[in-house]
Amino acid sequence: MKNIIVTGCSRGIGFEIVTEFSKLENFKIFAISRNKNGLNKLNNLQCNENTEIFTISEDLSCFSSYQKLFKFCVENSNGKFDGIIHNAGVLIKKNFLDINISDIQNSFNLNSFAPLLLTQKFIPTFNKNAHVLSISSMGGYQNSLKFPGLSIYSISKSTLNTMTQCLAEEYKETSFKFNSLALGAVQTEMLSEAFPDYNAPVSANQMAKYIVNFYINGAQYFNGQIIPVSIANP
Ligand SMILES: NC(=O)c1ccc[n+]([C@@H]2O[C@H](COP(=O)([O-])OP(=O)(O)OC[C@H]3O[C@@H](n4cnc5c(N)ncnc54)[C@H](OP(=O)(O)O)[C@@H]3O)[C@@H](O)[C@H]2O)c1
Repeated sequence: MKNIIVTGCSRGIGFEIVTEFSKLENFKIFAISRNKNGLNKLNNLQCNENTEIFTISEDLSCFSSYQKLFKFCVENSNGKFDGIIHNAGVLIKKNFLDINISDIQNSFNLNSFAPLLLTQKFIPTFNKNAHVLSISSMGGYQNSLKFPGLSIYSISKSTLNTMTQCLAEEYKETSFKFNSLALGAVQTEMLSEAFPDYNAPVSANQMAKYIVNFYINGAQYFNGQIIPVSIANP
């Protein structure tokens, strides 16, 4: 049985990641998001043998709730975890001069600080071969094409990549693995808000299948890597 935390699961790629896990055997998935409607749909999924989904409705920008969230996960498992998929994200599209302090705080709280603090909270509970997979963006990938209006989003997503590299180094004597997937365009509500007229070549379900496969198998071959997963611009 593997216990895994997945963030940002009420819709889009995260919803599909949890749906893909529900088809596999021997996983306990702790799915975190705010919106209860989306989470309720996950509660109603028919899971494969020995697989269970626990949904948790929390705002990951509210760091004071982390102890409660952590306690819930421990109480509903054997207290040992096999990793985290940091998928929750927020995209603010504004010209640089229009960005205010609350835009900066919202972006960094969810896209940067939440993954850092959650990782810190769960590392002491990790089983051998635990995998921390960060869902980053091509916008935050070094030397990729950049887009006007996406500066604060791209900057806040790029921190995931540095976290991946730093923790892979700091934990290189352990069996833990840290990787980032820098996604290109995937057809979700977030993408439609950023690029209303654009049709992405990849669906949320297709990307989720790739992410779940990479989560399970990628840790055998990659550590400290930032992998671009993109076949188009944006
Ligand atoms: N779609 C793309 O083209 C694309 C490209 C590159 C990277 N990505 C990355 O892929 C990830 C998933 O993107 P997506 O397109 O599926 O986005 P999405 O449809 O907007 O979904 C984002 C998820 O994050 C959750 N979330 C947002 N704020 C939260 C908070 N404060 N606390 C807890 N959960 C929160 C949302 O749930 P609630 O609102 O219920 O909390 C939602 O389930 C993101 O990290 C995004 O940056 C996406």
